[in-house]
Amino acid sequence: MSSKDKMLITGGHPLVGEITVSGGKNTAVAVIPAALLCNAPCTIENLPDIEDVYALIDILRLLGAKVEYVPERYMRIDASGVTGYQVPYSLTRRLRASYYLLGALLGRAGKAEVAYPGGCDFCSRPIDQHLKGFAALGAEIDDRRGVVHAKTDGRLKGNDVFFDVVTVGGTINVMLAAVRAKGNTVIYNAAKEPHIVDLANFLNSMGANVKGAGTDVIRIRGVEELHGCNYAVIPDQIETGTLMIAAAATRGDVTIRGCIPTHMEALTAKLLEMGVRVTENDDSIRVRPQGVQRAVNVKTRVYPGFPTDLQQPMTALLCMAQGVSTVCETVFEQRFKHLDELRRMGAKIKLMDRTVLIEGVNELYGAPVTVTDLRAGAALIVAGLMAKGVTEIYETSYIDRGYVRIEEKLRKLGAEIRREPI
Ligand code: EPZ
Repeated sequence: MSSKDKMLITGGHPLVGEITVSGGKNTAVAVIPAALLCNAPCTIENLPDIEDVYALIDILRLLGAKVEYVPERYMRIDASGVTGYQVPYSLTRRLRASYYLLGALLGRAGKAEVAYPGGCDFCSRPIDQHLKGFAALGAEIDDRRGVVHAKTDGRLKGNDVFFDVVTVGGTINVMLAAVRAKGNTVIYNAAKEPHIVDLANFLNSMGANVKGAGTDVIRIRGVEELHGCNYAVIPDQIETGTLMIAAAATRGDVTIRGCIPTHMEALTAKLLEMGVRVTENDDSIRVRPQGVQRAVNVKTRVYPGFPTDLQQPMTALLCMAQGVSTVCETVFEQRFKHLDELRRMGAKIKLMDRTVLIEGVNELYGAPVTVTDLRAGAALIVAGLMAKGVTEIYETSYIDRGYVRIEEKLRKLGAEIRREPI
């Protein structure tokens, strides 16, 4: 994925002002495929204008759906003309979440042939639990040569699904397959992320019967048909957190509008522990660092624990905290490709198994660095905002998968950041 431009950041400028967060990436990539489950128009608002959304539009159109998209306004999907059930690697390679087409197509028509996904490959990311869920609902799975073939005669049949690990993608995929299955499905050890709840709300607004989303037991009563709906997805929890961390990193004073503070509690608690002032209102959070930022210990956990997607930008912030911090990544077996790049900027970091040991330094310095995955990109932006001098960030296309024009948002807050063709 070689990008045509690089991002240049001159650090040392405190971020000050107000910014509105975009719609959620990880909810958008689940809700858009869900529109395949009915044969009437669905209108979805507050979608983030990111590459993953365009990749899904191409996939839905290939399958025969009519998609009208007005960026930053709405997307209208009419799946009544969908006859396709095959999604080639040329399209699935563009985003990790392309695997949701399996659950949506199985739920719609009882068959799906979807090539394994692409997206951020910071480590191996199996989908065995997704396939286990589909099989529990009666689908025949044939997983060969990089393509998952799934099919069932007629409709899927509701069943109990016990996940061996808490999996966001697995939970979402089984929800998509089960809402139109014959009978009831209970998902045990379900993921509880905000985007799981958002998807359940979307499905229920289409006439589905999903209860318990946001807890570790989700109960679904299958229905024959679903109808169209109008819906607005929730704001992006991880963009909100990234902006909060950037405000702390630059010792600024930033109010993030249009967010849901209760989604941010694990990060807010850590920032308060560091000595950063964080104030919450109904739909906004204000971050105002003051004085010394103390080192802390962070352990990523499934929601409502500290999000693994904020592990990397948080690691960047802790590079200049006072004292020695630890960051333990418990969700993915590794998510550390950003560490070498931070070291190039003067960070004092050691990796011991799944724990990063960070000795706070007084200064980071700008350097040429390369993005290896979406949230590593966020970490390098945070580090660039803190560093003395200019940081050149390469492979920016990873960043565009999950952040809507992040440099415009940061520039609006006073950052010296721009893109330049390579
Ligand atoms: C989703 O990935 C998000 N992606 C990730 O965000 C996020 O980091 C992750 O959830 C955890 O919150 C999307 O929503 C598109 P998992 P997903 O299944 O669903 C293991 C970003 O930066 N596992 O919850 O792939 C897996 O290896 C991206 O926005 C299995 O073993 O994550 C991992 O160790 C990166 N078998 C753990 O479970 C399976 O079948 C959690 O993975 C599935 C998962």
